[in-house]
Amino acid sequence: MRPVSTTTADTPSPRHVGLIMDGNGRWAQERGLPRIEGHRRGVEALRRAIRAASDLNIRYLSIYAFSTENWRRPRDEVSFLMGLLKRYIRSDLAELNANGVCIRVIGQREGLTEDVAALLDEAVEATRLNTRLNLIIAFNYGARQEITGAMRRIGEKIAAGLLAPGDITPGLIGDHLDTAAIPDPDLIIRTSGEQRLSNFLLWQAAYAEFVFLDLRWPDFDRAAFERALAEFNARQRRFGDVSPMPSEAPLSAKTGS
Ligand code: FPP
Repeated sequence: MRPVSTTTADTPSPRHVGLIMDGNGRWAQERGLPRIEGHRRGVEALRRAIRAASDLNIRYLSIYAFSTENWRRPRDEVSFLMGLLKRYIRSDLAELNANGVCIRVIGQREGLTEDVAALLDEAVEATRLNTRLNLIIAFNYGARQEITGAMRRIGEKIAAGLLAPGDITPGLIGDHLDTAAIPDPDLIIRTSGEQRLSNFLLWQAAYAEFVFLDLRWPDFDRAAFERALAEFNARQRRFGDVSPMPSEAPLSAKTGS
């Protein structure tokens, strides 16, 4: 039987959803398959997620595709993930572009091979005028590294006399992050049962709601997305205030407690 849908394109949606796509390896191992098969199936789940986000009027979708810590994995798995990204962009870029997806990339360029960096640049450039869905690919991304980079850039401006220490505000820090001009995530979904952020959008998630789904990422589909959105829509967001506030987070986590 088809699951009952609680969310439609008319239901208000969070403006920005982050996805921690966890459980590829376990999905494969549970089926006696190599871990890379889980990643391959994870790309299909990613395609479903992007389609659903677009249908459900989500404006920003951030995906945690490769973390700065993922380099610690066996060399074969890392090189498979790099190849998977390249194949994904080569095979899907035209369709993403046709569907109005604007791609942005957050994370460190250093450490990526020239071909991976060039493909990411090509995807950003080819889709930069699209407005239907902003797809933010976190690749070689770590939030602590991102915040460290922002602090360095601010420090350099102070040393050059362009800023004073008193100019440092949460808004200024937000403007120096990779996500500058991207609204904070309203909802972060993590699959596979683990309940942690794993260095994903630490600054930006200050007021995010979290939904942890008890399924492996390769099994993620529109019904799972809708369940997470229904849970989000049932929550009261107060942003440090005492009464409920509109469900969208402020543009950047500037104030609040
Ligand atoms: C976490 O599962 C997943 C990753 C580290 C990679 C995520 C990649 C995809 C979903 C494929 C789409 C990405 C690209 C590059 C196009 P895990 O391997 O940590 O699973 P486990 O916790 O069960 O071992």
